[in-house]
Amino acid sequence: MDILNRIKSKTLPRHVAIIMDGNGRWAKQKGMLRSFGHENGTKAVKEVVEASAELGIKHLTLYAFSTENWKRPRLEVETLMKLLVSSLRKEIKSLQDNNIKLTAIGNLKALPNKVYHELHEVMNATKSNHHMTLTLALSYGSREELLNCVKEISFKVKKDIISPEKIDESIINEHLYTRNLPDVDLLIRTSGEKRVSNFLLWQIAYAELYFTNTLWPDFTKQHLYESIIEYQKRERRFGKTSEQLS
Ligand code: IPE
Ligand code: IPE
Ligand code: MG
Repeated sequence: MDILNRIKSKTLPRHVAIIMDGNGRWAKQKGMLRSFGHENGTKAVKEVVEASAELGIKHLTLYAFSTENWKRPRLEVETLMKLLVSSLRKEIKSLQDNNIKLTAIGNLKALPNKVYHELHEVMNATKSNHHMTLTLALSYGSREELLNCVKEISFKVKKDIISPEKIDESIINEHLYTRNLPDVDLLIRTSGEKRVSNFLLWQIAYAELYFTNTLWPDFTKQHLYESIIEYQKRERRFGKTSEQLS
């Protein structure tokens, strides 16, 4: 049976987030430079974005560059930033054709000017698209996001805009970069690492976690389908008992 037929359209994850890991090891296995792995990683991005849109997933969030990734060798960081600019330029048409809105989360001001401007251009051009939201996590760190959230809320408390008793989960949500996104349903990490690496710590509280040994540049539509089939086999109890759900 075609693998696609095994996916139930009614219980698709609303929000899929992916830690795209393993580019460097993929290249090393081939005796190539890490940058070769990053270049090939962009093909996997294209593939997964298209597959998600085809399936009808409403929100796809991709971890492309972490706050910690700034500590990598300067040349690697530069390669990644150049790739971002060229991919954004290249993919704008396909985003438009597929009715995909591009957004970004993270400390975007830390990005080089060129990346920042290209990103805003594409975000602006696609802002009315509504088939799917593609969010790039760039210079993103969950702890930094939470820190900012605490600071912003504290300022509002100080200015009497918010009273401390009124602070609840929804107020926190509204002060995160992800304020316009629902909680993550399915978190995928490639490359065999089983850690979260400072990605969406608050937002994955009840996400289903899916780890695969596949290195990111090898990740295809089929791999995404497999992760969704596995997700649909899980019973999401949200603290309740199995009996309460049925
Ligand atoms: C993921 O691949 C891409 C980024 C983190 C930007 P890596 O570059 O982390 O590849 P590995 O983990 O070293 O193989
Ligand atoms: C996580 O991958 C960040 C991205 C995929 C952008 P890393 O390769 O940076 O994570 P660690 O260092 O192995 O935890
Ligand atoms: Mg890595």
